[in-house]
Amino acid sequence: MTRRALLVGVGAAGGAGAMFAAMGALGLAPDSQPKEFVPPRPGDFSLTGRGAAKVVVLGAGVAGLTCAYELGKAGYDCTVLEAADRVGGRVLTLRGGDRLTELGGETQTAAFGQGVYFNAGAGRIAPWMVTMDYCRELGVPVEIFVNGNASAYVYTRGMTAPVRARTARADMYGYVAELLAKAAGAGALDRRLTEDDRERLTEFLRRFGDLGPDLSYRDSPRRGFATYPGVGDGVPYGAPSSLGDVLAAGTGRAITMDFGYDQAMPMFQPVGGMDAIVTALARAVGRDRIRTGTRVTGLTDLPDGVEVAYEGGVFRADYCVAALPPHLLARLRHNLGARVTAALRTPVPVAAGKIGLEYGRRWWEIDDRIYGGITETDLDITHIWYPSHDYHSAAGLVVGYYNTEENAELYGRLSHRDRRARALTQGKKIHGEKYRAELRSSLSIAWQRQPHLEGGWVRWPSYDGGFALLGRPAGRVYFAGDWLTHLVAWQAGAMESARKAVTEIHRRVVKTPS
Ligand code: ALA
Repeated sequence: MTRRALLVGVGAAGGAGAMFAAMGALGLAPDSQPKEFVPPRPGDFSLTGRGAAKVVVLGAGVAGLTCAYELGKAGYDCTVLEAADRVGGRVLTLRGGDRLTELGGETQTAAFGQGVYFNAGAGRIAPWMVTMDYCRELGVPVEIFVNGNASAYVYTRGMTAPVRARTARADMYGYVAELLAKAAGAGALDRRLTEDDRERLTEFLRRFGDLGPDLSYRDSPRRGFATYPGVGDGVPYGAPSSLGDVLAAGTGRAITMDFGYDQAMPMFQPVGGMDAIVTALARAVGRDRIRTGTRVTGLTDLPDGVEVAYEGGVFRADYCVAALPPHLLARLRHNLGARVTAALRTPVPVAAGKIGLEYGRRWWEIDDRIYGGITETDLDITHIWYPSHDYHSAAGLVVGYYNTEENAELYGRLSHRDRRARALTQGKKIHGEKYRAELRSSLSIAWQRQPHLEGGWVRWPSYDGGFALLGRPAGRVYFAGDWLTHLVAWQAGAMESARKAVTEIHRRVVKTPS
């Protein structure tokens, strides 16, 4: 068999990735790669072991697992070293019996009933994100995550009672439309608008704000009903408060939440818990290739490889992908230079926290008619999330706070008991006494206190300098993680970054006959 015939056979059987890996092994690296990186196909996985390079991946979060998955499909010999005793990093779904330990000592055990789960970390996926492609490829079923719900509430400290999101939106759109339409009508915008412009704008504003014939916002069925229409014509909430009162109440606080390109409906979640993604990735990588409970302490770049020190041994490989949070990488003993250390110290870890509140009765569906979605507040709990799954089942779990920065630090400093007490006091302002009385069990997380992670995500004070430096390899060490993208705090960022590292390693390997 000629080498060419062999390669044609490998290519046909294993796809592009396998062929390139085999060509590298035979010293036949092509001069140029295809312009677009085509992720290796699932079939390439069958050629595991034929790759020309051995890669060690630090961290079994989404970035590390994606690296190992893609490299494995292309035939590389990958090993993932993970300090924790589980995979997934900030993708964490907790179920009854699961234990959660925080730095500082406290361990909680989830007492959730059968079928109840808490996505304590990643919780939603936008449809344009590459995460959806991995769900499709790995056979992870997805369902809608209700990120915006007109029946959820807006609650601010300026309000006597919460208002429904639909009411808040109707009032803000209504008053803004009225002001603009009247200003235009009074000629205040004549320097910007022709007569035709003004007519068209007014016509739009009439619909946008549901304005009356005199361009006033008075009342609108969009505000909602105390009793919805049926055989009778319903009992509407009635006329809005004055513009001044609506502004003073902070009603407009959350009406732009789903305007963002990353937060617009529809959004998605895996059926049964977000960890379905990392479980599927880990299975595809091969459990025998992932060493949990292995904390890395040092990293040495050598002329012909890399050496990773961990508690209990040393691991040698041709290349390394360091897919840990940057602030933890900065603490490793390494020989990558002071500039790399400085760059790794640039992104600032951001605190983030959540509490899962389990109830034995889905009162938010039964009493409030809220099926999924989020209540927005200006309290320190920030958001309340209602479950977007298992509607009408007996029990369910509400996320009683999802906060970041100072609010998350505040809650993070408390014991779980005190976090729960505080969250219940706040949530009771919106949902009343049942919020406390009907609670069955709870569990809280402060990501800044999670071992081996120490943060919800990071914030780059500036994307200049360090970001670009770490986007390039330091010798044979590549970096990967959501923190190396403009999609910080998204699994998609971790995956995109992993694909970039994999592509670059692969291009280098196929150009380097071994
Ligand atoms: N991606 C995170 C969220 O959706 C920040 O809340």
